Amino acid sequence: MAGVLGSVGFWIMIGIHVTFLVFAQEGDQFVHYDFRKANLELDGMANTDGGPLQLTNNTNTSTGHAFHKNPIKFTTSTLSSFSFSTEFVFAIFPLQSHAYGHGMAFVVSPTKDLSSNGTANSGLGIFNRTNDNNSTNHILAVELDTHESSEQLDKSNNHVGIDIYSIVSVKSEEASYFNATEGKNTSLLLASGKSILIWIDYDGTEQLLNVTLAPVPTPKPVSPLLSKSIKPSVPLLSRSINLSEIFNETMYVGFSGSTGTIKSDQYILGWSFKKGRGAESLDISMISDPPPSSLPPTAPPTPSPPPSSPRPQSPPPSSGGKKSSLGAVLGTSIATVALILIILGGIVYLYKKKKYSEVLEQWEKEYNPQRYSFRNLYKATKGFRENHLLGAGGFGKVYKGILPSGTQIAVKRVYHDAEQGMKQYVAEIASMGRLRHKNLVQLLGYCRRKGELLLVYDYMPNGSLDDYLFNKNKLKDLTWSQRVNIIKGVASALLYLHEEWEQVVLHRDIKASNILLDADLNGRLGDFGLARFHDRGVNLEATRVVGTIGYMAPELTAMGVTTTWTDVYAFGAFILEVVCGRRPVDPDAPREQVILVKWVASCGRRDALTDTVDSKLIDFKVGEVKQLLKLGMLCSQSNPENRPSMRQILQYLEGNVSVPGISLDNVSLGIPNISHEKVTQMTTTSTSANFSFEDVTILFGGR
Ligand SMILES: *[C@@H]1O[C@H](CO)[C@@H](O)[C@H](O)[C@H]1NC(C)=O
Ligand SMILES: *[C@@H]1O[C@H](CO)[C@@H](O)[C@H](O)[C@H]1NC(C)=O
Ligand SMILES: *[C@@H]1O[C@H](CO)[C@@H](O)[C@H](O)[C@H]1NC(C)=O
Ligand SMILES: *[C@@H]1O[C@H](CO)[C@@H](O)[C@H](O)[C@H]1NC(C)=O
Repeated sequence: MAGVLGSVGFWIMIGIHVTFLVFAQEGDQFVHYDFRKANLELDGMANTDGGPLQLTNNTNTSTGHAFHKNPIKFTTSTLSSFSFSTEFVFAIFPLQSHAYGHGMAFVVSPTKDLSSNGTANSGLGIFNRTNDNNSTNHILAVELDTHESSEQLDKSNNHVGIDIYSIVSVKSEEASYFNATEGKNTSLLLASGKSILIWIDYDGTEQLLNVTLAPVPTPKPVSPLLSKSIKPSVPLLSRSINLSEIFNETMYVGFSGSTGTIKSDQYILGWSFKKGRGAESLDISMISDPPPSSLPPTAPPTPSPPPSSPRPQSPPPSSGGKKSSLGAVLGTSIATVALILIILGGIVYLYKKKKYSEVLEQWEKEYNPQRYSFRNLYKATKGFRENHLLGAGGFGKVYKGILPSGTQIAVKRVYHDAEQGMKQYVAEIASMGRLRHKNLVQLLGYCRRKGELLLVYDYMPNGSLDDYLFNKNKLKDLTWSQRVNIIKGVASALLYLHEEWEQVVLHRDIKASNILLDADLNGRLGDFGLARFHDRGVNLEATRVVGTIGYMAPELTAMGVTTTWTDVYAFGAFILEVVCGRRPVDPDAPREQVILVKWVASCGRRDALTDTVDSKLIDFKVGEVKQLLKLGMLCSQSNPENRPSMRQILQYLEGNVSVPGISLDNVSLGIPNISHEKVTQMTTTSTSANFSFEDVTILFGGR
């Protein structure tokens, strides 16, 4: 933030400054932005064709030099007469991806012609074997070295050094600058293609040479520690030098660059020089871009700054103060808006994180394919809206949902307070997800939240069978053949679960409300395993049994034993309810008819089975009705081993084998010994309006 506003402020300053800009005259002080107009002597690869000074181009083992034609006179009269100051902007574009070429230097030399003695490669076009480390060369250079040479004891391929007489620097440092915003040194990549400012200041009285760097458009870094009105700069390099010992009376100032087998394009984009202190500051807005052809072919190597165009921060030269302050206002408001958006985003994120939070443990990883995110289920059901509610029962509410793919799903939210046994239960869900049968409601997956389990099923457009069977207003009705078809379908699904799958699966809660009807009104068995979940999750400590009265086999209510026989018992009750169009236990019925199997048996004893048939049925076949009712009673026998298996049941249903006759007395039929008063009491104490009698689960105490 501060950085953004800081640079905005900087641009206002620059904008005002440009109005008063006066070009310095040639001589002991000058400022150049367009080097074509500068009075330079060039050699080697150096050119000023585009405006900037290009020292080296895409040529191997070459040098380039550019010296100001007019000499600078350094008289020995006073120490301060050796003072000079210069500021320039350079940009180095590597032409290979992980190397930069050799580098370049600001040079103060007694001669403008370094073409003979300056060698390419690591000599930077300044020194060679003959003149190197020989005080007779009188050369001072500040090198921007982008090549690591062990020969020259170089620190790295990214350093700045002060060279006196020799390419071996008297002092050097890794390229970096003092970042005033962060209050610390920040490293800088010389060959990044980015424009970098450099200040070289020598004070003859102090006998100190300072070198300071900063990326454009950062102003010259000043010390934040001192509260003086003129704060001293924070140089990268500061070296005590007696220039009166080095310089000749007449010196030339300029630049040198070199390439070797590795090349780079090296540019000087602006240059201000003054003999004496206080060279004019460069106007960043006046600095032109290097030609676009100079862009590096690949990203520059480490330490890699963000990729950028040569001068991303600089506005075009035409922009004045007005535009800049408009930019400042815009910048500030954009920054403010961005801050607000970030805060809002954070709040929304936290809200959503809570809203969509779910429980996902390490062991669930293997069930990932069957895991749905709560967020997706929430969206699919439009936030579990009331108008997406398909039904509510003892185990929870069921909602319709549509996944982004267009798949219709039913999501059952099962509330629970038991995390114990969850691992095993999820394992069961996962294995149930692999069950495939045309008469099973496909379990697609699940999701877990704290205190809540969500089961995702195929959506069944025609709802549950009990809506049809027990619907008093007769809006929906099923024909006889449709009912027979549903019974057969459910029977084949149970056969699959009991005998045809890789392991025995018990449904545990077969009843009309758990049979769903698909688009073709085929019966599909749903909700398998849920009774087991309640069994495990809620009643871990006891042998209490959960089921639905009227569907529970005597051995189940007495001992809590669940087997395929208990499923068969429930299936028998189911057959009876489909044929008779009423629930196994109906407290509103005449006293002798309250318990359905008891009533059917009594009618059977007097050969009047058809009396029990659903009064809504007009097209039933008497023979089929009798067979089904007999089969229902066969399944309802109190001795589990007398009940048929699902395979046998299917054979009876197909009509291949006729249903055998059985004893129809109450004891052998396992008719529950529940008094009429007890049934009525259980019904009236059910408080929830949503709960029909059927949903009242009866717990048979274990201890
Ligand atoms: C580099 O510059 C020299 C001198 O201006 C020129 O002769 C040469 O063609 C240039 N090479 C490339 C590859 O641009
Ligand atoms: C230094 O350079 C001068 C002039 O080129 C030369 O005469 C002299 O021999 C050199 N000294 C050494 C030590 O190489
Ligand atoms: C060089 O930097 C030092 C601080 O390290 C400062 O005291 C001195 O005045 C600077 N000299 C010049 C010429 O900038
Ligand atoms: C700098 O060098 C000159 C010439 O050799 C000498 O006269 C002067 O005393 C030196 N200054 C310092 C501070 O060493």
